[in-house]
Amino acid sequence: MERIKTGIPGFDELIQGGIPKGFNVLITGPPGAGKSIFSMQYLYNGALAGDPGLYLSLDSPKKNMIEQASQFGWDFEKLESENLISFFSIPPDRTRLNLFDMIEDIVAQTKAKRLAFDSLATLMISIDQFAIPVSRLNQEQDAKRDLNITPATSTKKVNPLDYELLPNAEYDQKGRVFYNGSTEKRMIYLIMHELQTLGTTNVIITSSPEKETAKLTVDGVSEFAADGVITLEVQEIAKRIVRSIRVRKMRNTNQDLDNFTFSLSNNGMVVEGKKVFEGSKISGINP
Ligand SMILES: Nc1ncnc2c1ncn2[C@@H]1O[C@H](COP(=O)(O)OP(=O)(O)O)[C@@H](O)[C@H]1O
Ligand SMILES: [Mg+2]
Repeated sequence: MERIKTGIPGFDELIQGGIPKGFNVLITGPPGAGKSIFSMQYLYNGALAGDPGLYLSLDSPKKNMIEQASQFGWDFEKLESENLISFFSIPPDRTRLNLFDMIEDIVAQTKAKRLAFDSLATLMISIDQFAIPVSRLNQEQDAKRDLNITPATSTKKVNPLDYELLPNAEYDQKGRVFYNGSTEKRMIYLIMHELQTLGTTNVIITSSPEKETAKLTVDGVSEFAADGVITLEVQEIAKRIVRSIRVRKMRNTNQDLDNFTFSLSNNGMVVEGKKVFEGSKISGINP
């Protein structure tokens, strides 16, 4: 099995050398835990190895991402000019977007091999922005034609934001196409499935629940659909703040189940390999 190295020092060793190619891996944790940094480092190391990477964000504009990366000495502007990194931010004020076809086209255009999606938690909050084409729900390819999704399958370079559904389809007042009580959870499930079909190896960010529960993510479904789940934590142990990382699930992998400390410094994330004993969890650290 081919494994894709994240290149994050100390991390690949926990999962037999890397993420199995084509996997959907969730990164979950509280705000400020390092989820976006993990994902950027994964794309950066891929770009250095010649794998084009795509960062799809519902959370931050490209400018902020480039600034954050530069803190770690990662020149994303240069890599972007070499087509080794691409950013795509979905503006929060656009509505009725067909996220599914949009993602497919951006991946085709950028030839991405590694993809970061930031985040499922924001997708849940901003679900009114997106319409679910009926074709995705009933798996009938022909239904797509009936919906007149624009633009038609063409090979020319298109602006992904052109993917609006036309008004002659069946929409509710918010522009969503409904399917027997379609919900945020249904959207999460469909997006996970969509990402799996792209041929890319995906790091998908979400958030952990605020209250202590058995669930690993806010939506409570993505962890079942994912091939892997990595949790990042921030804990207070003996009055010190400790960051830690744990692989909760990685299909086809004899993973190390322990919780390891990591640091965030000028070099980005480094997993230190010290096992952590449970302290009291902190819900987040302000950037
Ligand atoms: N240059 C830096 N050096 C060390 N730590 C940093 C640096 N920049 C950001 N951080 C830490 O990273 C956190 C943000 O990480 P991020 O990956 O954006 O979190 P999230 O899990 O919310 O995506 C900040 O709260 C801060 O603690
Ligand atoms: Mg983030």
